[in-house]
Amino acid sequence: MAVVTTHRTQVAIVGAGPAGLLLGHLLHLNGIDSVIVENRARDYVIDRVRAGVLEQGTVDLLNAIGVDAGLRRRGLRHEGFYVSVLGSRHRIDLSSLTGGKAITVYGQNEVVRDLIDARIETARPLYFNAEQVAVTAVDSPSPVVRFRHDGAEHAVHCDFVAGCDGFHGVCRPAIPDAALTIYERVYPFAWLGILAEAEPSSDELVYTYHERGFALFSMRSPTVTRLYLQVPPDEPIERWPDEAIWAEMLERMRARDGWQPNVGRIIQKSVTPMRSFVATPMRHGNLFLAGDAAHIVPPTGAKGLNLAAADVLVLARAMKAYYERGDTGKLSEYSDVCLRRVWKAQRFSWWMTSTLHRFPGENAFDYQRQVADLDYLTSSRAAMTSLAEQYVGLPFEVSFESAGLPAVEQEAATH
Ligand code: FAD
Ligand code: PHB
Repeated sequence: MAVVTTHRTQVAIVGAGPAGLLLGHLLHLNGIDSVIVENRARDYVIDRVRAGVLEQGTVDLLNAIGVDAGLRRRGLRHEGFYVSVLGSRHRIDLSSLTGGKAITVYGQNEVVRDLIDARIETARPLYFNAEQVAVTAVDSPSPVVRFRHDGAEHAVHCDFVAGCDGFHGVCRPAIPDAALTIYERVYPFAWLGILAEAEPSSDELVYTYHERGFALFSMRSPTVTRLYLQVPPDEPIERWPDEAIWAEMLERMRARDGWQPNVGRIIQKSVTPMRSFVATPMRHGNLFLAGDAAHIVPPTGAKGLNLAAADVLVLARAMKAYYERGDTGKLSEYSDVCLRRVWKAQRFSWWMTSTLHRFPGENAFDYQRQVADLDYLTSSRAAMTSLAEQYVGLPFEVSFESAGLPAVEQEAATH
């Protein structure tokens, strides 16, 4: 019989993406033990190119947990962004519309690298390359996470499992179908994203509505531009040689004021499907889902990583209350508190997506209505204020102090 290495911990965390790593650090700061189990290699997790926009609250949170050295050095603070409609660029002045708030452009891979470094410094366990990860007995007081690592079998016995393993993970499927309600919308397009060795030609993001479809200009550093194009769903990347990508980017993004992105060598390209998805409740027995494991938003509103951060703040507060005072009330509230924010972000992301993309099958009325929507959005201070308030991120419902963090200036946290 194979020898099984048995671990005993308080919280077994499945997945070392932003949700799992951030939760691990929040628990660490509260003296709560955890084991993180990740099925990919460390370099793969760090190199995966994904999100870029951090809400003000996510920046404040990274600051409060002290994992902000890289963010302070290399994060790019943006006080506005542009919406370009049929060639006219309009600036949304985030800071003046929100009383001084901003977003920060800092790659998700940088956030993940910083959090992995912080985890390693704590000397608490983090397993990469875990195989056959399985979550069992979540209905019992002692769930078990099993996996193989370097040819050896492991069993992590714990009080709680945090399912932070993303949309394709094993935690959500460990919940019986009858116990979950799924809400879903799949969009009839995808995003082709590239990283290019080109100096960003604008200091701020540009969201473009063009007759040929949506395009987005973003960046990663003073020498790297990040760009996206709306393409048909399941578009084979082979259909897009580099010259075709640049031709289409320039066609859609070139503005009447002469602005266009700088062209450079393409160093990465991929196609991402677009989906809105929520699984409720976010808790089953002693398994708590967080981040993409529980919900997906289309990337147009830049909310996915930020929602993952908000979830684990709520979960850390609940676990702190349980271990310090035996209080199970906050654990019971976890799903409802998270879902209030999740549904607002879902609505915002759906709205940004619907407003800025061309939909197959739309008629001339739909087109005129969409252009009028954008005309209103870029000319009404009330409409821009609503956009700005949601884009920089709605206030957290949970205070940093209640999750065991030093109090920093935080807007309207109520609990
Ligand atoms: P993930 O990052 O998916 O992490 C889950 C982890 O679990 C992974 O490391 C995975 O390898 C691991 N895992 C999976 N299965 C298992 C298993 N069986 N066992 C163990 N481990 C497992 N969000 C924003 O906020 N702003 C943006 O600007 C933005 N832009 C985006 C652009 C693109 C092109 C894409 C694709 C996404 C974007 N997002 C954005 C969304 C954001 O990337 C995700 O919401 C975020 O990664 C969610 O973090 P997570 O930790 O919940 O999940
Ligand atoms: C990015 O920089 O990758 C990015 C920016 C804004 C979005 C989505 C992605 O809405």
